[in-house]
Amino acid sequence: MANDLLQGKHALLTGAGGGIGLATATAFVQQGARCSIVDMHAAPSEGVAALIDQYPDAVQYIRADITHMADIDALVATAISRFGQIDVLFNNAGIAIFEKLLESTEAAYDKLFSVNVKGLFFVMQKVLQHMVDAGVKGSVINLSSQAGRRGEALVAHYCATKAAVISYTQSAALAMAPHGIRVNAIAPGVIDTPMWQHVDAMFAKLEGLAIGEKKIAVGKAVPLGRFGYPEEVADAAVFLASELSRYITAQTLNVDGGNVMS
Ligand SMILES: NC(=O)c1ccc[n+]([C@@H]2O[C@H](COP(=O)([O-])OP(=O)(O)OC[C@H]3O[C@@H](n4cnc5c(N)ncnc54)[C@H](O)[C@@H]3O)[C@@H](O)[C@H]2O)c1
Repeated sequence: MANDLLQGKHALLTGAGGGIGLATATAFVQQGARCSIVDMHAAPSEGVAALIDQYPDAVQYIRADITHMADIDALVATAISRFGQIDVLFNNAGIAIFEKLLESTEAAYDKLFSVNVKGLFFVMQKVLQHMVDAGVKGSVINLSSQAGRRGEALVAHYCATKAAVISYTQSAALAMAPHGIRVNAIAPGVIDTPMWQHVDAMFAKLEGLAIGEKKIAVGKAVPLGRFGYPEEVADAAVFLASELSRYITAQTLNVDGGNVMS
C-alpha cells in the first residue's frame, strides 16, 4: 500500500484506546494523517501513549465519554483546536453485553443503546455539522458488526444496536451526499481484541463453556478459518477514509473472512 493515502488529513477516532480503534489510528498516522484519539479513560492507554511518543506532532489523546452530550461538544472542539478541520471520523466506540432474551434487562438495553447508538449518532451529527460549516468533503466510517446483519438468540440488544448503525449510515449518507461528504460503515466479523475476551467470557457463562472454548469454535467456523486481526479492519478503514473510495457512500463493508455474504 502507498504510505501517503491520508497525507494532510485530520482523523477523529472514538474508542481508540485499544483494539480496532488503536490499530486504525496507527494505520492512519502511517498514511500521513494527524489523529485525535478519543477514549473514556482519564489517561491514555499504553498503546496510545506509545503512539504519541512515536508521533508527538501527529497524535493527541482526548478523554471523553460519548454518552454525555457535553463531552461530545468538548471533544470535537478540542480536536479542531489542535489539528484544525476534521476530514475523517472513525466512529468506533462500542460495548458488548449479552443476555438470554427472556432475562434481558432494561439496564443492559439502556447501556448498549446509549453508547452504540445514541453516542455514535450524536458524535456523527456534531462532526457532520462541522464538515458542512467548514466545507469539508470528508469521510465518516461507522462501526457496525456482523451482528447487525442478523439476530442472535443471546445477543438481541447488541445486534439491534449494530443494525441501527447500518440504518443511520444510510440515512446520513443520503443527507450528506449533496455536501460531498461520504458516510460508510464497516461490519467486522470476529476480531481478536479486548472486546472478544469479554465476549468469550460472556458466552462461557451463558453456554456453560470453558474460557476460550467459544473463541476457538467461532474462529474455526469462519470461511477463512481464523479470527481477524484489528489491522485487517484498519486497512479497510484506510481505504474508506481515502480518495480510493471516492465513489462509495451509504455502504456497509463486511470485513469478516467470509462470514456474511451481502
Ligand atoms: N472485536 C470484534 O470482534 C468486533 C466485531 C464486530 C464489531 N466490533 C465493533 O468494533 C468497535 C471496536 O471494537 P473492539 O473490539 O476494538 O472493542 P474494544 O472493547 O477493544 O474497544 C472499544 C473501545 O471503546 C471505548 N468506549 C466504550 N464506551 C465508551 C464511551 N462511552 N465513550 C468513549 N469510549 C468508549 C472503550 O474504552 C474501548 O477502548 C466496537 O464498536 C465493536 O462493537 C468489534
